[in-house]
Amino acid sequence: MANEKDWWKKGVVYQVYPQSFKDTTGSGIGDLNGIIEKLPYLADLGISVIWLNPIYQSPLVDNGYDISDYYSVNPEYGTMDDFKRLLDQAHRLDIKIIMDLVVNHTSDQHEWFKKSCESRDNEFSDFYIWKDPKEDGSPPTNWGSTFGGPAWEYAKSRGQYYLHLFAKEQPDLNWENPKVRETIYDMMKFWFETGIDGFRMDVISLISKRQDWPDAPDDAIYTKSYYIGASNGPRVHEFLHEMNQEVLSKYNILTVGETANTNSDQAILYTDPEREELNMVFHFDHMHLDYGPYGKFSDIRFKLSDLRDVMTEWQDKLEGRGWNSLYWSNHDQPRAVTRFGNDTNYRVESAKMLGTLLHMMKGTPYIYQGEELGMRNVRFASSDQYKDIETYGVKKEFEERGLLEAYIKESIFLKSRDNARTPMPWNGKEKYGFTNGTPWIDFSPDNDWINVEDCLADPNSVYYHYKELIRLRKELPVVVDGVYELINPGDSAVYGYTRTLAEQKLVVICSFSESKVNYKLPEELKRSSGRLLLSNYPDTRKELGNLELRPYEAVIYYIEA
Ligand code: GLC
Repeated sequence: MANEKDWWKKGVVYQVYPQSFKDTTGSGIGDLNGIIEKLPYLADLGISVIWLNPIYQSPLVDNGYDISDYYSVNPEYGTMDDFKRLLDQAHRLDIKIIMDLVVNHTSDQHEWFKKSCESRDNEFSDFYIWKDPKEDGSPPTNWGSTFGGPAWEYAKSRGQYYLHLFAKEQPDLNWENPKVRETIYDMMKFWFETGIDGFRMDVISLISKRQDWPDAPDDAIYTKSYYIGASNGPRVHEFLHEMNQEVLSKYNILTVGETANTNSDQAILYTDPEREELNMVFHFDHMHLDYGPYGKFSDIRFKLSDLRDVMTEWQDKLEGRGWNSLYWSNHDQPRAVTRFGNDTNYRVESAKMLGTLLHMMKGTPYIYQGEELGMRNVRFASSDQYKDIETYGVKKEFEERGLLEAYIKESIFLKSRDNARTPMPWNGKEKYGFTNGTPWIDFSPDNDWINVEDCLADPNSVYYHYKELIRLRKELPVVVDGVYELINPGDSAVYGYTRTLAEQKLVVICSFSESKVNYKLPEELKRSSGRLLLSNYPDTRKELGNLELRPYEAVIYYIEA
């Protein structure tokens, strides 16, 4: 796989959130040596790539998405030598490593920003986005920021406002300035020369801002109201093409852009190989299905028909033109089994079903740490147990709006990013094999019964199902290259599709129902003879035919003409 050009189409990516993966020093914070220690676990699962959330020097206001030095490793996680050892050991196991590239903004503790604040006419003055106040002293636009409050912060030293789409400690870089771009490209080259295999690009759809600085309409969701002037901005494709020519095209790497507020037509612009920008993007359309009147934090549940429409749209649109990334969860999202499955009576079945549905689609699948164990959202007893800046921002905003306490609690339980950030449970013993110290965030109360050791000991665990899904992708070209086709657009409980590559066909049928349901196969499939490849029940029928699907049953049949 190593020197093949499109290797990233064939593998599965596993996302490691370093802070919560494995602590080897007793600090309560995961570290690079902890990741090295667990490489054999990841190799056994069969993944080909690790995506590391940011490990750079950072005051950790937003858990590392506020970088104060792009060239050094945060001492909480280890040293540059530890990082090089991690790269080396991963490569020996045929595992590649991609890093997070956070270049929409830096930390306010970055030297560039400190200098930029000093005056209007030094080398770094235009590294960030500074604007004069309006005549009445108010900010240049009415935009809100992602974590609450206005997107502009006044700095007395310059008598100007600077833009921050996220926390005020995360000032936005000025991509209009060619020197900024050049400095970023140099930094990227440094990491490629160190040996990394790619970048996941943080909020990359936001780097180009409209230069006419429009106000957002009054009815925009406040914390996203900057989209009007910042998402998929006028020069974003020009910048990424330039980045591609200057840096990316020179290396055999994986690039995936996180692209908020990007539809499937725009995704083609980012990922069509002929345009020479990125390999793939993370879209949010399926994440939006349970948004409520205030955005992400709501108590709404998704509808199967919406999910099927969205996934099918992305599969169809990008066919032959771009490439999909496939994910249910990450460090910004709640746990998949709670959100899309049933995390009580059918936790194992529904976690396996979700894995099946996603991993058999066309694109590169991403597994977020703990998803392969079927980890669930965490109901923290007290609100002080939350650590995340977004959760605190939302809580404040909802309290100011006078929303009911029960609603605030429930929407935080359902959507807080901390659901995904509790330490990885390696066993069911004291401190769960994560640390010898006090963890930086509380453990999930589920760890006694949902943990790696128990999953490895149970042949029916979610872990082994994921392992099989990964194996199938490696073994069958149809899983990588087959064309997707939806087979049951109107079904109220079942999501079924096929993948076809020349004479090979996969039939994937997944039930989202808690009851037993009949599933009638379309006539043309009935005539073919398929054999069962994988299911999440022990006694699914071996030949393809009409099915009585049990709760959350998921089946994959293989047809070879
Ligand atoms: C991305 C990251 C998220 C972070 C934000 C600001 O969405 O995934 O964790 O808070 O960007 O960098």
